[in-house]
Amino acid sequence: MGKKIVVVHGGPRKKGNTRAITKITVDSARKHGAKVDEIDAINLTFKAPGCIACFKCQESEEYKCIIDDEVAAKVATLPSYDVIVLSAPIYWWSYPAQLKIFIDRIFSLIKLKGDDHISALSGKTMALIATGGGELENNLNLLEAQWRNPADMMGCKFLSSLYPDVLPEEGFLTKNPDAVQKAKEFGRLLAME
Ligand SMILES: Cc1cc2nc3c(=O)[nH]c(=O)nc-3n(C[C@H](O)[C@H](O)[C@H](O)COP(=O)(O)O)c2cc1C
Repeated sequence: MGKKIVVVHGGPRKKGNTRAITKITVDSARKHGAKVDEIDAINLTFKAPGCIACFKCQESEEYKCIIDDEVAAKVATLPSYDVIVLSAPIYWWSYPAQLKIFIDRIFSLIKLKGDDHISALSGKTMALIATGGGELENNLNLLEAQWRNPADMMGCKFLSSLYPDVLPEEGFLTKNPDAVQKAKEFGRLLAME
């Protein structure tokens, strides 16, 4: 059976390079038999911007943030997928704030048990598609670590497809045949997970 993939879009520019290169990966994953759903983290409504550290999620058996909003509802769907992909441009050596609101709520998908924890995402694959105007070193690789580290902590496999030196013009990345090939190959890889 085809893999179930969810892509969480964190690129604020609808016609930006991040979404354009991600579309190539998504199309390729679908071509290789995966079922791909998409969440647009930029447009989700929320009652609180991120996690408010109420720890109510730790008091219940359910893997769900108790804040009753769209961000919580979408985060709660993540355990139903085999592969969870973040797609983001790097902003200030980190994730765009709109996506960070979503990421912080993923705390509701773990249960702390003393020094240890159980995660509803353990055994899954976490992946990152990221673009940046600058280089890989001390820049895009920092963003990568911010998704690879939680993946490691939750017992997930991790894959990434990073695109440094991207100029801000629309279509810049998708005019580059090497980038397009890399994006297609990444889609094939995700579909195999
Ligand atoms: C607010 C802001 C902060 C940025 N910070 C970084 C950064 O820290 N490192 C970097 O390499 N590029 C940075 N960039 C450039 C974007 O990451 C880059 O242009 C990216 O490819 C944009 O993707 P998009 O075309 O999907 O919007 C920044 C851009 C903006 C608007």
